[in-house]
Amino acid sequence: MSTHHDTHGHTGHERTGEADGAMTRLLELDAEVLAPHLAHLTGLLAQRVGLDAARILDLGSGPGTGSLALARQFPAAQVTAVDISPPLLHRLREQAAARGVADRVSTVQANVDEPWTKIAENGPYDLIWAASFIHHVSDPARTFTRAFGQLRPGGLIAVTEMDFFPRFLPEDTGVGRPGLEARLHQATNTRPQHEWTGALTDAGFVVEERRPFEIRLDGAQAGPALNAYARLCLVKLRSHATDVLAADDLAALDALLDETGPQSTAHRGDLSVRTTRTTWLARRP
Ligand SMILES: C[S@@+](CC[C@H](N)C(=O)[O-])C[C@H]1O[C@@H](n2cnc3c(N)ncnc32)[C@H](O)[C@@H]1O
Repeated sequence: MSTHHDTHGHTGHERTGEADGAMTRLLELDAEVLAPHLAHLTGLLAQRVGLDAARILDLGSGPGTGSLALARQFPAAQVTAVDISPPLLHRLREQAAARGVADRVSTVQANVDEPWTKIAENGPYDLIWAASFIHHVSDPARTFTRAFGQLRPGGLIAVTEMDFFPRFLPEDTGVGRPGLEARLHQATNTRPQHEWTGALTDAGFVVEERRPFEIRLDGAQAGPALNAYARLCLVKLRSHATDVLAADDLAALDALLDETGPQSTAHRGDLSVRTTRTTWLARRP
């Protein structure tokens, strides 16, 4: 989900409050719309780790949609959420309290690139979760080695990456030339997919599965947050498209993003979600 412009947002070191708010909104809408996938994935982990998992670590938790889904799936678990951003962790604590799991979710504010002293205090872990995160760290190999050291023997790490922002629009939106979204993605997504199989293996893990999930949700399956989520993703891509998309496509995109316009993504009824997420499931022998 990143481009050479880094559409994931910043690493956290220089974010403003406004950027934290936008990132929280995007990540929470993502989790709401893709809730069926999140439930499926955490269910899969329960089969692999057992429902009695006692300690779970969420690396780069952000506002904690993963931490909360894990707390829900694993009723006996203490979940430790690690992130560099205090406002995102604050949001996570609020959400944990609202869901009645504050006693089972704790936050650790830390830079994963630095020594893991605080992260180790709640370990060793049965399960480590790292969603849309590993590409943010300065040294993925070192991060996997440290994660290996924090897992109990037999423990599992689940690493997930998004291919890119999901697609939402129909081929012909009724505005401008058909195929706008494909051209927008082609112009702004210029990097290869993340690939962690080798680095996980080098760190000592046995990679049990590298599973690409093809996610396809129609409007009814995606639910009421779909329009807001689609618009936010497209607004983000629009900010990277100015110099790389043809003028007529930019104008069409602006019409689609205009909340008051008749064709706006804010209220049209023909959106769907199409995306791929890859999860690596790897075990410490
Ligand atoms: C794209 S978000 C993913 C959040 C969450 N895992 C999710 O799937 O919704 C990446 C997160 O990594 C955090 N982050 C980036 N670099 C970090 C670092 N070096 N140490 C700890 N957290 C970091 C950011 O603050 C952000 O919350």
